[in-house]
Amino acid sequence: MCGISGAVGLNDISQALYEGIRNLEYRGYDSCGVALVNSKGLVLKKNIGGVEEFYRKENVLRHKSRIGIAHTRWATHGKVTRENTHPLSSSDGAFAVVHNGIISNYRFLREKLAREGFHFKSETDTEVIPHFLEYFYKKSKNVEAALAKTVEALEGSFALAFITSHQPDQIYCAKRESPLMLGISDEIKYLGSDFNAFIDHTKNAIIIDDGEYAVISRDSYTVKSLVTGQEIDKPIQKIEWDSESSKKGGYPHYMLKEIHEQPQTVNHALEIPASLTDDIVDLIVESDQTYLVGVGTTYYVAQFGQYIISNLAEEFLPAISADEFVALAKIDKGSMVLALSQSGETYDTLTALKYAKSKGAKTAAIVNVMGSSISRLVDKVVFQGSGPEICVISTKAALSQIVLLTVIGLKLALRKKLIGKKEFQKQIDQLKELPEIIHAVLNERSGFIHRIAHQYYKVKHWLYLGRGVYYPVALESALKMKEVAYVHAEGMPAGFLKHGTLAMIDQDIYSIVFVPPREDKELYQATLHSIEEIRARSGFVLGIHFDERGKNKDLFSEELILPPVSPLIAPLLQLVIAQLFAYFTATSLKRDVDKPRSLAKSVTVG
Ligand code: AGP
Ligand code: GLU
Repeated sequence: MCGISGAVGLNDISQALYEGIRNLEYRGYDSCGVALVNSKGLVLKKNIGGVEEFYRKENVLRHKSRIGIAHTRWATHGKVTRENTHPLSSSDGAFAVVHNGIISNYRFLREKLAREGFHFKSETDTEVIPHFLEYFYKKSKNVEAALAKTVEALEGSFALAFITSHQPDQIYCAKRESPLMLGISDEIKYLGSDFNAFIDHTKNAIIIDDGEYAVISRDSYTVKSLVTGQEIDKPIQKIEWDSESSKKGGYPHYMLKEIHEQPQTVNHALEIPASLTDDIVDLIVESDQTYLVGVGTTYYVAQFGQYIISNLAEEFLPAISADEFVALAKIDKGSMVLALSQSGETYDTLTALKYAKSKGAKTAAIVNVMGSSISRLVDKVVFQGSGPEICVISTKAALSQIVLLTVIGLKLALRKKLIGKKEFQKQIDQLKELPEIIHAVLNERSGFIHRIAHQYYKVKHWLYLGRGVYYPVALESALKMKEVAYVHAEGMPAGFLKHGTLAMIDQDIYSIVFVPPREDKELYQATLHSIEEIRARSGFVLGIHFDERGKNKDLFSEELILPPVSPLIAPLLQLVIAQLFAYFTATSLKRDVDKPRSLAKSVTVG
């Protein structure tokens, strides 16, 4: 999630552009740059480092211009170097492009362009865009036609903008999956990947939708269809600071925004002070029995924790659904209850904790909301720092809790001397890779997930299957589908299938199977056996797996292939994919995504 800002006006826009890009820097970026136009043509300035530092060192504001685009980068393809920083220009220097997202077929496109004689100056996926613009422009002598042709060639998700010496008074932009919007004022027309790029100057915004492109100049703007070239009448929306759409940051729903925030929230979870998770480990070690407790999604998070901690630290901490806790758990002074709650207000979880306290047990919680009832009730609290989760469907808060439980599992393993410091650090480092991998996968696979979700959105019954830690992945993923799309989805251990449910399998039953990486040998093989059982009965299987394409030919009816990752983070990555699958199914079904019927964000009744 990098930032794009653009401005075109009657007078110098350099300051406005600077403010725009600085306001987008809040997500943490590694390099930035601008493209401006002066009497000699396009001027490109870029370097590694933050916006302020870059502007100061390069004295960027001294370059006056009436038009410009700027970018802050969070590298996905290619190292953090000056060469890889945006804007990236075409071979002839006539196009300067900024881009958010990932062009997933960039290798193929690079080869194609190389055969046409183009040379690449960067390692980025982005650089195919300026070269394609040049290539198609040479054929048509028309910038808009070149833009449409270029976008047609691109796969993946992106928001892109460019200026060109062929039409030096205009900014061109287009998007797919990544947000992009215009800000309209009398003096200056703005462009931003987020309202923050221009909200200090204007509250009049036009949101660009997928399949559209826009051309903006100092006194006009047009939005057109990339397919037909027809102009589209777009309403101007008033964005107030605290308006819904402002807070959504350009995403159509909070759910999608929060799914995309997960790289940041996982980072935040990994940055919380070590002493907080150490305290939880102390409590676990000191107690005779620890229970993991949550309800709904957080019960599934607890189940994740149960598997992860059992695998890593050889310790069985039963996960119990908070609503069943009083009926099931046998609590005394030697017990400890570790509760998971996003809101910190859930009645069932509060009741379980109060019950535990009344029996003299120790209590702790991982909570997202500061000052919440649960956080005030327990002996020890870990604030996960995921930021407000607005959508009723929990995504980012749950993933961060799973990450924290993994850290606790690793610390417990270290404490029990099951692993040494080196191994501990190695596994923590693997966890630290998760944010970047999620970011890349969201960018690269969103389009594909959108397509299959749309293809199968009429399916009435889904079985979600996984073994081991992939079983809670299945459970939580099925819950996403039920609550956001109102589609029946049942999470089940894949091995459980043959003990009854298999009787139901025929061509009308659709399954999603979470396949572990091949290194997880036994789990992997066993999961494939379950898939064979379904396929033998003509059942449909969507496999979410890490094998190379064609490895398990004919095994899946449909497959979603993820890049190879360590077994520690594989289930977490699959969960993110399943969140997105549920989201896109819900949008195809035109559901009220952020406020599904009959649900509430925090359930404070029993
Ligand atoms: C999540 O998607 C659900 N809407 C719901 O199951 C939720 O996780 C549950 O009510 C627990 O909420 P909490 O994390 O705020 O305690
Ligand atoms: N893929 C582009 C790059 O690495 C854009 C990165 C992003 O969106 O974070 O330069």
